Amino acid sequence: MKKGLHQVSLLCALFGTSFGLLLTDPSQVQNTTYDFIVVGAGTAGNVIAARLTENPSTRVLVIEAGGSNTGPNSQNIQVPLFAPQASLPNTRFDWNYTTIPQKALNNQVLAYARGFVLGGSSSTNLMTWTRGSRDDFDRFAQVIGDSSYSWDNMVQFFKKSEQWVHPRDGRNDSDEFNPAVHGNGPVLITTEGVTSVIDDRVLATTQQLPAEFPFNLDSNSGDLLGVAWLQSSMGGGSRSSSATAYLAPVLNSRQNLDVLIQTRATKLIQSGSSQGLPQFNTLEVGQTSSSKRFTFTARKEIILSAGAVGTPQILMLSGIGNPSDLAKLGINSTVSLPDVGKNLIDQPIVSAQYIVPNDTATLDPITLGEDPNAAAAALSQWNANKTGPLTSAGSSHIGFFRLPNNSTLLQNGDPSAGPSSSHYELAWQPEWAGAQTPPTSGRYVSNIHVVTTPTSRGSITLNSSNPFTAPIIDPNFFATDYDLGVMVAAIRSALRFIKAKPWNGFVLAPVPGFATVFADNSSDADVVTYIRQFTRSIHHTAGTAAANKEQGSGVVDANLLLKNATGVRIVDASVFPFLPSAHPIAGVYGFAELLAQKIKTAYNI
Ligand SMILES: Cc1cc2nc3c(=O)[nH]c(=O)nc-3n(C[C@H](O)[C@H](O)[C@H](O)COP(=O)(O)OP(=O)(O)OC[C@H]3O[C@@H](n4cnc5c(N)ncnc54)[C@H](O)[C@@H]3O)c2cc1C
Ligand SMILES: *[C@@H]1O[C@H](CO)[C@@H](O)[C@H](O)[C@H]1NC(C)=O
Ligand SMILES: *[C@@H]1O[C@H](CO)[C@@H](O)[C@H](O)[C@H]1NC(C)=O
Ligand SMILES: *[C@@H]1O[C@H](CO)[C@@H](O)[C@H](O)[C@H]1NC(C)=O
Ligand SMILES: *[C@@H]1O[C@H](CO)[C@@H](O)[C@H](O)[C@H]1NC(C)=O
Ligand SMILES: *[C@@H]1O[C@H](CO)[C@@H](O)[C@H](O)[C@H]1NC(C)=O
Ligand SMILES: *[C@@H]1O[C@H](CO)[C@@H](O)[C@H](O)[C@H]1NC(C)=O
Ligand SMILES: *[C@@H]1O[C@H](CO)[C@@H](O)[C@H](O)[C@H]1NC(C)=O
Ligand SMILES: *[C@@H]1O[C@H](CO)[C@@H](O)[C@H](O)[C@H]1NC(C)=O
Ligand SMILES: *[C@@H]1O[C@H](CO)[C@@H](O)[C@H](O)[C@H]1NC(C)=O
Ligand SMILES: *[C@@H]1O[C@H](CO)[C@@H](O)[C@H](O)[C@H]1NC(C)=O
Ligand SMILES: *[C@@H]1O[C@H](CO)[C@@H](O)[C@H](O)[C@H]1NC(C)=O
Repeated sequence: MKKGLHQVSLLCALFGTSFGLLLTDPSQVQNTTYDFIVVGAGTAGNVIAARLTENPSTRVLVIEAGGSNTGPNSQNIQVPLFAPQASLPNTRFDWNYTTIPQKALNNQVLAYARGFVLGGSSSTNLMTWTRGSRDDFDRFAQVIGDSSYSWDNMVQFFKKSEQWVHPRDGRNDSDEFNPAVHGNGPVLITTEGVTSVIDDRVLATTQQLPAEFPFNLDSNSGDLLGVAWLQSSMGGGSRSSSATAYLAPVLNSRQNLDVLIQTRATKLIQSGSSQGLPQFNTLEVGQTSSSKRFTFTARKEIILSAGAVGTPQILMLSGIGNPSDLAKLGINSTVSLPDVGKNLIDQPIVSAQYIVPNDTATLDPITLGEDPNAAAAALSQWNANKTGPLTSAGSSHIGFFRLPNNSTLLQNGDPSAGPSSSHYELAWQPEWAGAQTPPTSGRYVSNIHVVTTPTSRGSITLNSSNPFTAPIIDPNFFATDYDLGVMVAAIRSALRFIKAKPWNGFVLAPVPGFATVFADNSSDADVVTYIRQFTRSIHHTAGTAAANKEQGSGVVDANLLLKNATGVRIVDASVFPFLPSAHPIAGVYGFAELLAQKIKTAYNI
């Protein structure tokens, strides 16, 4: 680490500030005033930084708590099939958070992954690329009070963030996506790098049971529902993150962009008042709990992009939140915004596994470690030309579904955004996957089940006024009977899928731990017992600094400016008032592209 620091200092000495810099110590920042300071070089933060610095006279500093996305162990955040390893706790890429005990999950404490590296969670996530539905974004527009967030307006920003690339095995993918849906932006999107032994069976099931499981050529068209080929944020055989797609191409060539890593924003400092409201233009940072603090100033704005855990934590450390809660920790209130850290939405996920014949070419010999030769051969192929089984994201197809209209779960109203939104998701994997202890051998197919429109809400609260102490994280899974009921319905739906004809003679049996649920006479109580034991977070945390048009609630307004204050904007998953009824990252990129344009327009840059 020392060595890296010296290398950077040497570069500074040699080249002055003739190009944008990757700095590793706050003392290396030469001019502490910038036009914009972006907190968090994560998914959204890198989009904002890259777009604002397209104008060479706009100076931007990005502060990132984590380290570089290259260097030791970075293969884990590059190789698609290694994606599950990218977010393991106690690695240099993760925040190592855990939840408080989850009451509905037998009081289990769950790992709660967040990316701690350039690219943030886009560098460590599972790469599934789904925008959500037309109704999801039309509801955003309505709740936020700004038609910019509607589906029809957002499409241009989705397209600005991504582009389609063909699968690594060179197959003809024209039946796997709709080119009209995709754009010309930096993040690379593709389907699996290799075909799998279950693809034909999944597709045959959509033909056999089209009423429940219709095929959807491209679920990113706004029509989310049905079974589609899984699209992932990867290309050329490697993960495509906001660090590789937005930051790396411009960092060394733009002298108006500096990125300071291994440095944490500790709080916003009120610098005065403007328009009768507290103004925040100064950011305090530090590298360890006891290290010297430094301050940087933004002439225009500080943009918080620290994610749905980090952003509310920084706000509360700055006295922005519920004044009486903050007073208990000795933090003086600066802005009363009681919704900070509230309204946390996350989606629960549970997996099931099935035994398939031992001569089946699943990914298990590589992923379960049973065959070191297969794993070594796959890695050397990936190193040689980025092809082969390691270019698989581990899943072939994904589907989004609604409960039947007459479901008793909908008797008290439909929590989804509308008829194009989903209530649950299913996906199929040609390998063993899940929260259970993995076996060391065998061949498997796994099924994941996700509640995509949950009604439970959790929270982020401070445990300490020390910015280096983890906040208290409570996703509050299955706080409502509705959420639990949808998970039961999702599992029952997946059982109809896997018990259909195309799987006869292939799915030999469920793994022993799933046998009770798999049985034709299983009771809902059996299914619930399984859910309480094996549910985990899918890590789609959002909503903790929600945008809302109502004056008395939410945390940011329609332009994502902090309410009842000036100088601060929030651009990350914490502003979503709801989750899209799918995986959120495409929506995070879309919001960030829209906001980059709003900011450029506001300052005429
Ligand atoms: C393991 C995992 C798997 C996932 N799988 C998928 C998936 O397959 N598909 C999908 O759509 N979504 C997935 N998600 C969710 C998705 O990745 C996130 O919703 C999205 O990346 C959030 O973007 P963001 O900009 O809000 O935050 P992030 O990308 O997390 O960025 C926040 C950044 O801020 C930094 N930071 C935080 N606090 C501070 C501080 N005090 N000072 C300085 N820097 C700070 C962090 O280190 C981080 O780099 C997954 C998430 C995880 C963790
Ligand atoms: C520092 O940067 C600010 C913002 O771009 C600029 O206005 C100022 O002139 C710079 N100061 C020095 C000493 O270069
Ligand atoms: C998580 O643990 C790893 C391994 O100990 C460490 O390198 C990393 O810095 C930790 N993350 C945080 C945010 O402390
Ligand atoms: C791919 O297949 C489609 C029909 O399925 C065909 O129209 C198209 O020409 C093929 N593309 C290439 C590059 O072969
Ligand atoms: C809070 O405000 C009081 C009164 O202005 C002041 O004495 C105290 O130092 C402040 N505490 C902190 C932590 O800033
Ligand atoms: C697969 O092989 C393992 C180890 O040889 C054996 O225990 C298991 O029964 C076999 N499974 C099937 C489905 O044949
Ligand atoms: C990639 O390398 C492997 C051997 O490592 C080879 O078999 C394969 O043909 C190569 N593929 C391409 C497209 O070059
Ligand atoms: C269910 O209701 C929605 C409207 O709420 C309607 O659009 C849809 O067609 C209905 N589905 C069926 C299968 O009747
Ligand atoms: C919903 O309708 C279907 C067929 O239309 C019927 O089989 C089912 O029993 C109904 N369910 C409820 C809860 O009414
Ligand atoms: C909060 O802090 C206390 C005291 O440091 C610690 O014992 C406790 O485990 C923390 N709680 C959580 C949820 O991290
Ligand atoms: C389901 O059937 C099996 C035998 O096929 C029996 O052992 C079990 O008790 C039954 N379970 C329920 C809930 O009826
Ligand atoms: C902002 O301040 C106004 C006027 O004091 C107040 O009515 C409103 O509730 C505040 N907004 C929020 C979100 O607390």
